[in-house]
Amino acid sequence: MALSNDDNGDKTREVLAAQAHIWSHTFSFIKSMSLKCAIQLGIPDIIHSHGRPMTLSDLVNALSINYNKAKHQDCISRLMCILIHAGFFIQEKEGYLLTPNSRLLLKNEPLSLVPFVQMELDPNLTDPWHSLSEWFKNDGDDDSNNSTPYATAHRKPLYEYARNEPRFNHVFNEAMASDARLVMSVLIKNGKGVFEGLKSLVDVGGGTGTVAKAIVDAFPQINCTVLDLPHVVEGLEGCENLSFVGGDMFKSIPSADAILIKWVLHNWSDEDCIKILKKCKEAIPSKENGGKVIIIDMVLMDHDNLQKGDNKSYETQLFFDMLMMVAVSGKERSQQDWANLFSDAGFSDYKILPILGLRCIIEVYP
Ligand SMILES: C[S@@+](CC[C@H](N)C(=O)[O-])C[C@H]1O[C@@H](n2cnc3c(N)ncnc32)[C@H](O)[C@@H]1O
Repeated sequence: MALSNDDNGDKTREVLAAQAHIWSHTFSFIKSMSLKCAIQLGIPDIIHSHGRPMTLSDLVNALSINYNKAKHQDCISRLMCILIHAGFFIQEKEGYLLTPNSRLLLKNEPLSLVPFVQMELDPNLTDPWHSLSEWFKNDGDDDSNNSTPYATAHRKPLYEYARNEPRFNHVFNEAMASDARLVMSVLIKNGKGVFEGLKSLVDVGGGTGTVAKAIVDAFPQINCTVLDLPHVVEGLEGCENLSFVGGDMFKSIPSADAILIKWVLHNWSDEDCIKILKKCKEAIPSKENGGKVIIIDMVLMDHDNLQKGDNKSYETQLFFDMLMMVAVSGKERSQQDWANLFSDAGFSDYKILPILGLRCIIEVYP
């Protein structure tokens, strides 16, 4: 593509716009890394504790940073500038304030998403993106140590890596627990009906039990069992109506009125999901007797029917879809993809409740 002298300016504008587009895309990681830095420096908590708009010099004085970097203040002001642009802070005449986005980044906020951000931006999960093209080219189909870009980078699939690495296992489980706290507070407020009539429930791939604890607290008549891999539930203590089982959902799932399976199926291929869903079906009673599987996962928006304002949500769903390809062998699914899985696993019907933002509840009936 060469610019010629007889161009009336349209071509030149197009080239410059393309350059700006490429720059913006290339540097998108700067948004994530600036956010990570702000969390590591404790900026949201410091502004929150200040209790009123915080000036740049008060903020700089409160930060534990090197004297030479603090002296000029300029670097913190520039970091704040990009985070203000990204909607994490606002700046008034009197100083910086939090926004609803940064309130979810306070460390002691009950619904804090700090552990989730920390996990996703941990080098353990960002490194594999550098192996994506290598993974596309390698012949790792039959080799689990090349099954995903994550495995290509770390020589092990993610859950095997977590089994052998206590630090990453902890970071991962804390991230999941933080998401579970937020989801369950919305679900218990707006989706109580999902749990009506149940006496027992198994949370498959239920991590360290945050979801199950929220359920037994809100519905003490339900007996909950958390099934997860042995290294995840090791040492966890249950209580009267909550127990932990270390096992493998591909082999056996304890029986209950309902199976809950949150953010698990998107980790797996269609073939594996059908195996898991068949095991779920074996564990529950018939539809007439109240049996159901409760899935919490995304239902991909239909690209051809996006409404005004859906663009960012759709992009975020695509981010998750790519993440599932890079970190595990999973994917995000459209409503049709889900319907196909349910019918292939022998279920008769399903209902989607879009009450969880970018994710949904899907009730699936035998
Ligand atoms: C993405 S996490 C979701 C955790 C939890 N459901 C939540 O949303 O907070 C997936 C979970 O599946 C568990 N898992 C992976 N393979 C499993 C298996 N074969 N049997 C049981 N659980 C498994 C992982 O250990 C992890 O806790």
